[in-house]
Amino acid sequence: ACSSSAATNFKVFRGTFVHSTQEDALVILEDALLGVDSTGKISFVEKGPELEKVSAKFGFNPSAVTQLSPQEFFMPGLVDTHIHAAQYSFAGTALDLPLLDWLQTYTFPVESRYSDLEFAREVYTHVVKRTLRNGTTTACYFATIHTDASLLLGEIANDFGQRALVGKVCMDRNGLHEHYKEETQESLDETSRFISELIKRKYPLVKPVVTPRFAVSCTSELMLKLAEVARNNNLHIQSHISENKDEVKLVQELFPESESYTDVYRKHNLLTSKTIMAHGCYLSDEELKIFHQTGSSLAHCPNSNLSLCSGLLDVRKVLSHKVKLGLGTDVAGGYSPSMLDAVRRTRDTSKALKIQDPAYQTLTWEETFRLATLGGSQALSMDDQTGNFAVGKDFDALRVNVAAPDGPIDLVQNDGPKVLLEKFLNLGDDRNILEVYVAGRKVVPL
Ligand code: GUN
Ligand code: ZN
Repeated sequence: ACSSSAATNFKVFRGTFVHSTQEDALVILEDALLGVDSTGKISFVEKGPELEKVSAKFGFNPSAVTQLSPQEFFMPGLVDTHIHAAQYSFAGTALDLPLLDWLQTYTFPVESRYSDLEFAREVYTHVVKRTLRNGTTTACYFATIHTDASLLLGEIANDFGQRALVGKVCMDRNGLHEHYKEETQESLDETSRFISELIKRKYPLVKPVVTPRFAVSCTSELMLKLAEVARNNNLHIQSHISENKDEVKLVQELFPESESYTDVYRKHNLLTSKTIMAHGCYLSDEELKIFHQTGSSLAHCPNSNLSLCSGLLDVRKVLSHKVKLGLGTDVAGGYSPSMLDAVRRTRDTSKALKIQDPAYQTLTWEETFRLATLGGSQALSMDDQTGNFAVGKDFDALRVNVAAPDGPIDLVQNDGPKVLLEKFLNLGDDRNILEVYVAGRKVVPL
């Protein structure tokens, strides 16, 4: 038998668990037992009726098990693979211009305010709390060019217990808005300072990500040297690609020697197995092959693509090339900070493609569920640690009550677990998310 001290270190839940695997977009485990050890890892997933045997084997008291009610379930935490924390201040506004005008008119003037750490603290606290409450257990953030405010975003994510990649934005050219850019050497020096300072703080769940904004706002020299920084420190890289037709055209003009937008990044060594590129609406089959070969992934941001009239990403085509793909809110090009919205807009975009072509095979809702969880973890190369309820992974999870009082969902008799999940994905909101766990720690209620 195990010692009693081990017993106090276990958390055990009994009820319905839903998640995805590589083979199955939706796996439903009814009346399951899931144990979380003191380090926040899933130590077992067993059958509820075998409680006596399991409790003896793992050394916990059967009466200490937390029992879910029938309208509740656990699902893996949502993974936002692309979100601009700094742009949260104007989320829900300013969606009336195409990308390049939108950046110059609304985005760069707001981002330039983040030299003010009090403003940064206000917005970054809001965005971390809001995304956590909406079930985002992992967020891949763009901050701004300001190192100290970017470090503050890392500190706030750590304080509230969110798993996060945080990027100090790099841009050494930028058309019109000359006061929101850096000198090349300054951008490199500040990136090094950002990385070493963030690593020095030893936040267990917060890591730096090398962040050249996009090819339009970065010189060749900057991109080449940032790729070196990422390689030397084994870091993630994030940027934007092929979001809007005018942007694609401008990149072709800026880099006439390159065959494609993807070729620009490849030539600058930015396409690695830890690279995540947002959008990709206009990538050719050739370009998607390069993504597959390099192991780089895409962040699909459908709210942003619709809101800025950028384009419709054909997710089915991306998946057929075996390119890793996750979902992103892209706040504030996307107006919603909720990944449930990203799931719904992913569905809408897929259905819009079917309106254009009746033979088109839309994504199933189960596939959109996988993209928002396991798909995102894979896109961020974190699926060894997160993404589903495989034993040994960290317990990143949402406790959902589909029938939450004052919530937006009405259940009727005999609604089974599959219907509960489908209703939650399509109709639910933060009122249905009772608890959020990241690496076994309860981070919601805040
Ligand atoms: N491309 C370069 N920067 C940005 C940004 O901030 N938002 C979006 N949607 N696209 C970009
Ligand atoms: Zn973006």
